Amino acid sequence: MSKILVLPGDGIGNEIMAEAAKLFTAIEQVFGFQCEFERGLIGGIAVDETGTPLPDQTVELAKQADAVLLGAVGGPKWDNLERHLRPERGLLGMRSALGLFANLRPAILFPQLAAASTLKEEIVAGLDILIIRELTGGIYFGEPRGERKENGKRIGFNTMVYGEDEIVRILEAGFEAARKRGGRLCSVDKANVLDVSGLWREVAIEMGEKNPDVELSHMYVDNAAMQLVRAPKQFDVMVTGNLFGDILSDCAAMLTGSIGMLPSASLNEAGAGMYEPVHGSAPDIAGTDQANPLATLLSMAMMFRHSLSRADIGDAIETAVSSVLDQGLRTGDIFTDGTQKVGTVQMGDAVVAALQGAG
Ligand code: IPM
Ligand code: MG
Repeated sequence: MSKILVLPGDGIGNEIMAEAAKLFTAIEQVFGFQCEFERGLIGGIAVDETGTPLPDQTVELAKQADAVLLGAVGGPKWDNLERHLRPERGLLGMRSALGLFANLRPAILFPQLAAASTLKEEIVAGLDILIIRELTGGIYFGEPRGERKENGKRIGFNTMVYGEDEIVRILEAGFEAARKRGGRLCSVDKANVLDVSGLWREVAIEMGEKNPDVELSHMYVDNAAMQLVRAPKQFDVMVTGNLFGDILSDCAAMLTGSIGMLPSASLNEAGAGMYEPVHGSAPDIAGTDQANPLATLLSMAMMFRHSLSRADIGDAIETAVSSVLDQGLRTGDIFTDGTQKVGTVQMGDAVVAALQGAG
């Protein structure tokens, strides 16, 4: 039986995980697919209960699981802690401990939501791009890092570093993904300025020669940010480093109307993965039944596809989400005139009903 570790985390994490639990139950009924669940602590709640944002036990449970489903971490309560105790450290620690180097962040606009985007409909209608972000290297983890004093003045520093093998590994994920989609891969760097990007591009060019079936292009990150809002549909798959991917994926998220719709998968070399909505813990609306659970349910779809070898269940979840949008149901973040505003629980119930109806 597949083992799943559930990590609700902070803020709206509990509410959206409750909707995920309902969907797992429905999947068991409809598909006869059973999972075994464990729950663990991560983030601020883990700090409160154990004194660290990532208890060893959570890492152990994650290593034994086939997949991890994470809610969100962080909140104002923990904002003033020392950096190594901050909730975000828990997330970074998990990525590192599980070797989750490949972060897949699709930005897909459900046609029903075209009007919810802040961009003109014709710019975003039909949008379907995939950002692949390197997740365990680059400036997020590079050494040396820290703060020191020179001549009585403070200096803060980090190191952006990529080894050849890390670049090859993430680009391979990019070529593979592009091959299964539109066959185009755009590698994003800052090779006009950064040495680390110079190597990135050199390696990308070499790999492009070995993968002639995929159309490879290169773009500087500043231009990529501009192109994402100017003409996002020019992209199929984008592959980039940790920091650039962090920024570009938020930018791409907004094209789809709401970050509340976006799922993500973080995979390691063994194919195990951690799945989480791209949005954060939204402490301002926690506990008010306003959170959009769809990013979490769509993250489950990615989990079934990438870690549980059940693409059919992944498809069924996505179809159920789409049919709920067809019914006109919207949480506040995707609400537009003429649609029906619902809360977290009602949205989750509707997805469950749609899945059961189709099954
Ligand atoms: C993300 C988030 C994280 C990151 C934070 C919460 C550490 O912004 O997953 O994009 O910077 O990677
Ligand atoms: Mg981010």
